[in-house]
Amino acid sequence: PKCPVAHNATPADYSVAGKGTRNKDWWPNQLKLNILRQHTPVTDPFGAEFNYAEAFKSLDYDALKKDIAALMTDSQDWWPADFGHYGGLFVRMAWHSAGTYRVFDGRGGGGQGQQRFAPLNSWPDNVSLDKARRLLWPIKQKYGNKISWADLMLLTGNVALESMGFKTFGFAGGREDTWEADESVYWGNEKTWLGNDIRYAAGSKGVSGPGAVSGDEHGQGREIHNRELEKPLAAAHMGLIYVNPEGPDGNPDPVASARDIRVTFSRMAMNDEETVALIAGGHTFGKTHGASTSEHVGEEPEGAELEQQGFGWSNTFNSGKGPDTITSGLEVIWTPTPTKWSNHFFEYLFKFDWELTKSPGGANQWVAKNAEPTIPDPYDANKKHLPRMLTSDLALRFDPEYEKISRRFLEHPDQFADVFARAWFKLLHRDLGPRARYLGPEIPSEILTWQDPIPDVDYPVINADDVAALKKDVLAAGLDPADLIFVAWASASTFRGGDKRGGANGARIALAPQRSWPANNPDRLNKVLTALESVQKKFNDAQSGGKKVSLADLIVLAGTAAVEKGANDAGHSITVPFTPGRNDALQDQTDITSVNHLEPVVDGFRNYGQSTQHARVEEFLIDKAQQLTLSAPELTVLVGGLRALNANWDGSSYGVFTKRPGQLTNDFFVNLLDMSTQWTAIGGTKGETFEGTDRKTGEKKWTATRADLVFGSQAELRAIAEVYGSADGEQKFVKDFVKAWTKVMELDRFDLHR
Ligand code: HEM
Repeated sequence: PKCPVAHNATPADYSVAGKGTRNKDWWPNQLKLNILRQHTPVTDPFGAEFNYAEAFKSLDYDALKKDIAALMTDSQDWWPADFGHYGGLFVRMAWHSAGTYRVFDGRGGGGQGQQRFAPLNSWPDNVSLDKARRLLWPIKQKYGNKISWADLMLLTGNVALESMGFKTFGFAGGREDTWEADESVYWGNEKTWLGNDIRYAAGSKGVSGPGAVSGDEHGQGREIHNRELEKPLAAAHMGLIYVNPEGPDGNPDPVASARDIRVTFSRMAMNDEETVALIAGGHTFGKTHGASTSEHVGEEPEGAELEQQGFGWSNTFNSGKGPDTITSGLEVIWTPTPTKWSNHFFEYLFKFDWELTKSPGGANQWVAKNAEPTIPDPYDANKKHLPRMLTSDLALRFDPEYEKISRRFLEHPDQFADVFARAWFKLLHRDLGPRARYLGPEIPSEILTWQDPIPDVDYPVINADDVAALKKDVLAAGLDPADLIFVAWASASTFRGGDKRGGANGARIALAPQRSWPANNPDRLNKVLTALESVQKKFNDAQSGGKKVSLADLIVLAGTAAVEKGANDAGHSITVPFTPGRNDALQDQTDITSVNHLEPVVDGFRNYGQSTQHARVEEFLIDKAQQLTLSAPELTVLVGGLRALNANWDGSSYGVFTKRPGQLTNDFFVNLLDMSTQWTAIGGTKGETFEGTDRKTGEKKWTATRADLVFGSQAELRAIAEVYGSADGEQKFVKDFVKAWTKVMELDRFDLHR
């Protein structure tokens, strides 16, 4: 009689806000701006005033590390520790947190604590890491906002290694948490977990080489995809961090597995040596979990019932935990000492012949032939197991290149330990950005090239009078102001928020490889740099007391002076803010391959490049705006201003909708929105370039690209364009342009803002 449902008067036919068929369902190809509105103060419970770096500085770092170390052996009944030590689980948690990073767009990685949110919290590769995070909660709770989840998850991996006897290379904090799922990362187009048909669709079918596994015919001549992995992806399957442990598409072929590993790990910035060290180093610890078949495993966290409270993959096999755990479905323990650093992985890898077998869950794995059971059981001291390996582990022996490295590590454990320590540090810190962002007492003093180092500013920098004089000098250097704007933009806009690389600091635009990127228009760039270098020399030669202007500062200052001139010529008397303090990197501090990953492929801000079979120009524009951490209004005002200032990469007039190019006016918007203009697609590149003609006379007025016309066609961008194109819009336009310009010029000034 007291049943709440019976007394509940809620009518059954009510639904709620946010549900229903949405715009993205009606128009799947609609250009979405949602990724420009993420991680704003609205979603952040700490609010805009909170400064994580400051909070981190008040952290008792040693006490935190002690608590994490104690947790390693504090086995909880609700999720018992294998071998009485959570080390393996926490190393895997940190690796999966950081390992989603990809070099091509700098997205993914452990820098935002995204493992807490979908899709990562529910990826098939992340099974049981929900438990790892919950084991850490009491520590997170104790230290509150002084340590972010992002830092804590990675630091815990480090402490896990240390508590198992490994000497790490160091650790830096500084990763601020985000509070919602990051929608900006392109994880692939497949609609099924573990699918990979679309990411490899570009490649034709090929045939793998003969299987090289000693004493076994498996993997011979099996057909696999000729794996051309779609960019910027770095995983072989939807929902995996890297590759299928059973081999490509489940084929237990170690040599073919090596090919997938090489591609995916190189897209995580790891070379062969680092790759071998990482896999072997990781699999020196812990075990895989495949007590039974996957039919016992429930929904992943995002699909699970409310009462699961964020847990997923509930397991009905016996106790569902400890010895009955099902994670990957594989059942392997690599070494006889899974909670101690050792060289046993390589010893076993080469000591035994390996025979294909199945895990209790039916997955392909390998067992040592003619071996004694030397491997301990995690829960039963009286039991011993045979050595086992994954197909992807055997890749380290049967791929000829990996084999050489593995044998060297077998013979030289010290080299193995050193490479693993450095590669692990790189894995965890690759997306934290430059050293200026590193926090805490364990920052390694050694400077590494992948950190894109910039020498410290150890000289007096230019003052306000110098800035004023230098502005005059650069404008009098005989260059078109548009050239100066183009170069400053090209220099600063390499920045990407995902891994905080790039930007104007370091003046790497004057070094290889940026100096010859097509998007930088090398001839034009050289002309500008030569002129600026001579202004710089003249200035520096005239100074006393070591005062200098860096080329990095001068490039930005020249662009800034040209913007100011463009505004003044249009009748707006303004000063564009400029803060000196950048320094110049050296060529030998610059890793060419790594810097090449910052190269713009398609860049709508300077009207460079065309649509690909995967993405249209305007989608690249939004992608780039997100890299530059811009909002939709900032994107709009910048493109409108850059067009008015005539700053296209090749000096073309696409989108330069003005009769007075070079002046900072709102003409781009006024003319874009002018109803007397009719637009049609032109040329062989149908749909890439357009012509605007007078509706009445047919007279040709303008030409445009997709990156121009999108501001008239996409409804939300058009709404913003209308603000800037209105009669009262020009003052606001100039003010907002200058603000957004300055923001881009200072994106990498971590010395000024974190
Ligand atoms: C566990 C695959 C690279 C560290 C596992 C598991 C699989 C796997 C299937 C079992 C998960 C479970 O059932 O609990 C792979 C593949 C790799 C790779 C295919 C690349 C080719 C790495 C790397 C590291 C690492 C680079 C760290 C540096 C670990 C650790 C465990 C583990 C510590 C044990 C987890 C535990 O004890 O609970 N790996 N892994 N793995 N992996 Fe990897």
